[in-house]
Amino acid sequence: MPPALDLDEASELDTQDTLTKIRKEFEIPKHSDGSEQAYFAGNSLGLLPKRTRIAITRALDQWGEKGVAGHFDGKEAWYQLDEEIATLQTDIVGCLPSETGIMGSLTTNLHMLMASFYRPTAAKKKIIIEPHAFPSDRYAVAAQVEWHGGEPNNDVIKIEAENPDLITPDDLERTLHNHKNEVCLALLGGVNYYTGQFLDIPAFASILKSKEITFGLDLAHAVGNVPLKLHDWGIDFASWCTYKYLNAGPGSIAGYFVNQEHHDNKDLIRLAGWWGNDPDTRFDMHGQMNFIPRPSADGWKTSNPSLMAMVPLKESLEIFAFYGMTALRERSIRLTNYFEKGIKLIESISSITPENPEMRGCQVSIRVSGNASKLEKELINLGIVPDARDPDILRFAPVPMYSTFVDIARGIRTLEQLVAN
Ligand SMILES: Cc1ncc(COP(=O)(O)O)c(C=O)c1O
Repeated sequence: MPPALDLDEASELDTQDTLTKIRKEFEIPKHSDGSEQAYFAGNSLGLLPKRTRIAITRALDQWGEKGVAGHFDGKEAWYQLDEEIATLQTDIVGCLPSETGIMGSLTTNLHMLMASFYRPTAAKKKIIIEPHAFPSDRYAVAAQVEWHGGEPNNDVIKIEAENPDLITPDDLERTLHNHKNEVCLALLGGVNYYTGQFLDIPAFASILKSKEITFGLDLAHAVGNVPLKLHDWGIDFASWCTYKYLNAGPGSIAGYFVNQEHHDNKDLIRLAGWWGNDPDTRFDMHGQMNFIPRPSADGWKTSNPSLMAMVPLKESLEIFAFYGMTALRERSIRLTNYFEKGIKLIESISSITPENPEMRGCQVSIRVSGNASKLEKELINLGIVPDARDPDILRFAPVPMYSTFVDIARGIRTLEQLVAN
């Protein structure tokens, strides 16, 4: 039997694809033999754009040369950099400029947003999450319930899915029916971190809206990966980290969304700080007592953001703006279809990710027989970098900005040899 995918064919596909060139904008980690890794872990940590090193140096120069005046002086001034950066993410998440911002980190932002959007009453107090919810989301919703005096074992419920690897609008309807009118908030992943399923967000949103349930999204694995229309879908709030597909660096500053319909709602209590206050009175240290929220998503901010966290995000979002989500998504589908084709040729492994590109992003999660972490180490030793989720899932993400068809052919051929042994 010939190996699963042909390297010459893969190389030809790379030559034909006009977006293969984006890879040159990134630093590609090296294998121990000096060759470039076939890096499939961009769903965990995206790679470093070369321009980010230069931009960080420019920001350090601005700080070093100007000190406090660097907030306002010159074209590298950073006082409103968070607002400039927010406008670069509107096309990626599908929203109005006033609906998005950057601040904090993903889990912190979910807490900040739930402080406003989780307002349980005695009758309606449950939070619904997905069967494979990311641990941090589970901890966060349980903590919110306890913070309000509830009992997580009772008040946090999971969607009762016929197949937990593929949740459907019917599963949601059935679960809500079983819990009558007790659910007030849904917090779901746009793309599930474990299965790679791209949720049918509009269908879920319409069910939740019809039952007056607030809908929040964790978009860690969706942002920069799949097309999103948060405004049109009527999502209430969302947050996302920027260190995966957005390539902004480990632990980088997060993004968030608050639907326009909530901006002027004074009943939504915010955990306020000066950065969310009207800029005209932000520095009014001895004056007003009351917080005057900005009438936009900015009204949920608390602190002034870290310059060194913002600069990498700006650089990366400019690459997205240059190539556009539509072209990147098209390339993503080409690459992931090719990866799927390879997986199907290997006996003894199977994908748990939906095959239909409309129902997945670039990540494919495969179930292996045996220990996934052991296989992950063996692959890394051979220059192929997926990541394992115990006990038996290996995740591969061919990322359109820097993965290639040759990476995929190498990855599939190596995987095929390892599982055959
Ligand atoms: C789906 C999902 N939610 C939440 C988190 C937690 O992110 P953070 O540590 O930035 O709060 C992660 C981290 O990988 C994630 O994948």
